[in-house]
Amino acid sequence: MTEQEFIPSYVATSLEKGSVSFTSPSNIALVKYWGKYGEQLPKNASISFTLSQCHTHTTLHYEKKASEGFDFEVYLDGVREPNFEPKIRTFFERIQKYIPFLAQYSFRIETTNSFPHSSGIASSASGMSALAMCLMAMERQMEENLEEAYVFKKASFLARLGSGSASRSIEGPLVVWGEHNDIEGSSNLFGVKYPYEVHPNFDDFQDAILLVDKGEKQVSSTVGHNLMHDHPFAEQRFAQANTQLSNLIPILKHGDLDAFIDVVEAEALSLHAMMMTSTPNYVLMKPNTLAIIEQIRKFRNETGSKVCFTLDAGANVHVLFPAFEKDRVLQFIKNTLAPFCKSGEYIEDRTGVGVIQTPVGQ
Ligand code: DP6
Repeated sequence: MTEQEFIPSYVATSLEKGSVSFTSPSNIALVKYWGKYGEQLPKNASISFTLSQCHTHTTLHYEKKASEGFDFEVYLDGVREPNFEPKIRTFFERIQKYIPFLAQYSFRIETTNSFPHSSGIASSASGMSALAMCLMAMERQMEENLEEAYVFKKASFLARLGSGSASRSIEGPLVVWGEHNDIEGSSNLFGVKYPYEVHPNFDDFQDAILLVDKGEKQVSSTVGHNLMHDHPFAEQRFAQANTQLSNLIPILKHGDLDAFIDVVEAEALSLHAMMMTSTPNYVLMKPNTLAIIEQIRKFRNETGSKVCFTLDAGANVHVLFPAFEKDRVLQFIKNTLAPFCKSGEYIEDRTGVGVIQTPVGQ
């Protein structure tokens, strides 16, 4: 599949005015995307669990207009948010070729996140995927015979142009983004549902997000990705990620939780090792990030638990564990890990299925 296949055939549209709403989840990468080229293309393949509790709800109001050019306003929790508008403008510029009606409408984008804005949880994956689905819902009204599979694929393709990891939030519970020899159908252009057998050990997998540092990141992901261009370990890192994804295939099939832990924790630490060895270098982990990691490893050694950690580009810790260990691990988090969190806060999440359309006004 090439970009050309996402350029629609319709020219004019009779759609005048309306609204669509979608709720789209965040996702947590097991094998990380870190480094990109061209127009939002990944240097290596990545795989993530789609989440369910951390999500963005977006309503897109549209009205046909006569003038040329983009016309949109963004509202967060009902309040105009001009800070979000440059990112949306860049997104619109990138996708205009594929969504030719963009300049023909005035848009009002209303968005709310289920997680607090100051939580340090990135809303770009959930936000961009929700907006991409809203636009696809409009396109569906213009081109009636679009198949659902194509709608999801193009939504992921569009979401990627807003934020790479957003391409992995359209479907669930496991999504691969990036071309990989061992994953049939994988593409740099969009995310695909993981196509192979997954052991029930990974059903309803749990992710408790421990809020260690709720402030703005000192270095954005965009800057971090760019620092991979001249990074001394870049090529090894991209090769490592692709190998880790190959390693995961039998692990997911056989439900090998010990091997899963090895891959997932190595990926988290490799991601941060890239940050710590780039020029300029930087550290996003905080002392409490390390304290939590140490406690998780101690708990595992003492109890035989299969709990593990992963990290995003920030100080927060995602604590991953199988559903059959839920009670014991939640107790451990509450008693032992929560004291390392800002205001003792953490969010209980689990794997999910991806975007859902919701009635407008809810
Ligand atoms: C560390 O998707 O936020 O979360 O494409 O520049 O928007 P942009 O980057 P983004 O990068 C996320 C990186 C990561 C790892 C991952 O989710 O794979």
